[in-house]
Amino acid sequence: MMSLPLYVQGAWFLGALLFIFGLKGMSSPASARKGIVLAGYGMLIAIAGTFLVPGLKNLALMVAALGLGGAAAWISGKKVKMTDMPQMVAIYNGMGGGAAAAIAAIEFAKGDAHSTVTTILAVLGALIGAVSFTGSCVAWAKLQGVLKKAIRLPAQNAVNVILALNAIGLGIAMVAFAPAKPELILFFFAISLILGLIVTLPIGGADMPVVISLFNAFTGLAVGFEGYVLGNPALIIAGIVVGAAGTLLTQLMAKAMNRPLSNILFTPMVASGPGEAISGSMKEVGPIDAAAMMRYASKVIIVPGYGMAVAHAQHKVWEMTSILEEAGVEVKFAIHPVAGRMPGHMNVLLAEAGVPYDKIFDLEEINGEFGQADVALIIGANDVVNPSARTDKASSIYGMPILNADQAQNVIVIKRGKGTGYSGVENALFYTDNCRMLYGDAQPMAGEIIQHLKAMG
Ligand code: TAP
Repeated sequence: MMSLPLYVQGAWFLGALLFIFGLKGMSSPASARKGIVLAGYGMLIAIAGTFLVPGLKNLALMVAALGLGGAAAWISGKKVKMTDMPQMVAIYNGMGGGAAAAIAAIEFAKGDAHSTVTTILAVLGALIGAVSFTGSCVAWAKLQGVLKKAIRLPAQNAVNVILALNAIGLGIAMVAFAPAKPELILFFFAISLILGLIVTLPIGGADMPVVISLFNAFTGLAVGFEGYVLGNPALIIAGIVVGAAGTLLTQLMAKAMNRPLSNILFTPMVASGPGEAISGSMKEVGPIDAAAMMRYASKVIIVPGYGMAVAHAQHKVWEMTSILEEAGVEVKFAIHPVAGRMPGHMNVLLAEAGVPYDKIFDLEEINGEFGQADVALIIGANDVVNPSARTDKASSIYGMPILNADQAQNVIVIKRGKGTGYSGVENALFYTDNCRMLYGDAQPMAGEIIQHLKAMG
């Protein structure tokens, strides 16, 4: 690797530092916006540093690629709906993996002599990046509804293993016979890309966010490896940071769903059997009674879920909360780690609506308080409050930690109808004696409650 001028290395180092501080900022909703802006400046400085590398070729191509990619990202980033964010993350992540694989492909095609370590890292980055690219594209297609069914091959796991062994074998050959012949390079990339497709196709939509997070970790690793190949410390550090964050997030999500990663990747999520019989009936309540129950309560805990996101009800929910607080009611928000369709989904929506962070509590922080709440108001949440996760061993969500909303004196559930949650499992909570259903779209329903609260003074 040629030695680079100090100003280039300095720019990359500064970029890498800003990535790290940016990630640190993202660890709390209060500083997340600042964190993402810092990381953005880091990227800008790292790119500027790259343009200062002496003897750079293909400047016009680089500018064109940046212009095209930047414009596509700017436009889609502005237009994307909050509910479509998971597939947006999937496709951007896939592009990162694809870019890492493309860097390796160019290095192989050039046929330059590299040290064995560099070739090994280039091959590893190419394999992981290619898998992440096609896998993330499948994840995007599933979440976007383009690919509606999980496609499972006969002897799926055996096919996965054979493909993986082939890709690894070809990778070893690429190192052993470096510089590799074009046919070997092509074959290696083809098998790696197919591996990403075949591994991801059978995984159900419900598990997709975990898979996206895993591919995110893969992309980080691939970028880090290719950063080493290119001798670019900004890429190495950015890759390692993304790889580590993605790995931790994947573990956290798998734990919050009580699904081991191996189970998510290799075992299809089957509809649960008959399970425990649910007794009782769903009892309806009107918005006026729901408003009165909360207005005369001392403590209300609100549990938002995916339905609140679909209905864009967060602003109304915050308005309702403010009225209740003015009337002397203590209101808290309880957030399940996998409420919604992506990590932090509810936190982002509530923050957007202006809900102060000190009113938002994680599962471990709030679960002990439901017993003292007069009302648990569930807005478009379902699986995350399903008590059968505690007891019904036949249920596909058995063992998933849930919010103890059923322990509140009264439970009010806002949802449009009798539909199940994402897991497809019937919710035993809705049939309990202390639960009342307020049927309707979350936004107009919250609006009606506000009108009644205002009328109550
Ligand atoms: P869900 O269990 O998916 O339930 C959402 C409920 O919202 C549905 O029962 C639906 O009932 C209702 N709803 C939909 N649109 C509505 C609207 N416009 N107004 C009012 N209600 C509406 O949501 P959850 O409790 O947030 O649980 C999340 C699920 O996603 C879990 O199963 C979790 O494992 C899975 N998941 C999440 C993640 C992450 S990272 N968040 C990752 C992987 C999997 P109606 O149709 O009757 O209205």
